[in-house]
Amino acid sequence: MAGSDLVLAMTGASGAPYGVRLLEMLVHAGRRVHLTLSPAGVEVLQQELDRRVCLDHFVLGDLLGDAAKGIPAEQVLYHHYRDFRAGIASGSFLTAGMVVCPCSMGTVAAIAHGLSQNLIHRAADVHLKEKRRLVLVPRETPLHLVQLRNLAACAEAGAVVLPAMPAFYTRPESLQDAVDFIVGRICDQLGIEHKLLRRWGITTETYPAPPD
Ligand SMILES: Cc1cc2nc3c(=O)[nH]c(=O)nc-3n(C[C@H](O)[C@H](O)[C@H](O)COP(=O)(O)O)c2cc1C
Repeated sequence: MAGSDLVLAMTGASGAPYGVRLLEMLVHAGRRVHLTLSPAGVEVLQQELDRRVCLDHFVLGDLLGDAAKGIPAEQVLYHHYRDFRAGIASGSFLTAGMVVCPCSMGTVAAIAHGLSQNLIHRAADVHLKEKRRLVLVPRETPLHLVQLRNLAACAEAGAVVLPAMPAFYTRPESLQDAVDFIVGRICDQLGIEHKLLRRWGITTETYPAPPD
């Protein structure tokens, strides 16, 4: 346990590439990551990235592919989503924050109402009660009133709601640029240095000129 550890939960919203890229970035930044995935998160991973992860026999290479090579086993600590005995289920286990990325509206609802039905909900609960950074990266559209209220409840309880909404003012040239924009904004919330996006007001001269 170290106070600089981070928790990353991947749930069943569209946006698996965000979660995978974020994990790569956190590891690259030298942070130890406590990783947990929901069963729906595994389904989305398979659908979107063709990566097959087994929750009962987790292998980092199944999630990260070649990017897993060279990552020390102690840097990514996997926790089964039903394991309430994991350290991250307790406020006495110190962390620097938690990200749910991608975050389904089901998980948003569970966090908003303190349901703690799995380790992901419980760890989010812990981060809220301990007043630690909790970043939720929801993806759904359109949003109905209950979903909007649940997001508002999470924000009122202290979470940062950071929807997976890539910007276009940066002139993304690829899907990877769009992914990196969101992951860069998440890293900003965690105080992790990165060069994933060009910052407005600092490097605007490098933006392509608008067409005539
Ligand atoms: C391929 C796929 C894409 C999905 N996309 C979304 C989505 O973008 N947003 C969302 O809230 N739910 C989405 N769902 C539905 C959730 O996975 C489902 O509500 C699930 O119960 C969420 O459980 P979890 O929060 O434990 O991961 C998707 C499901 C699948 C299989």
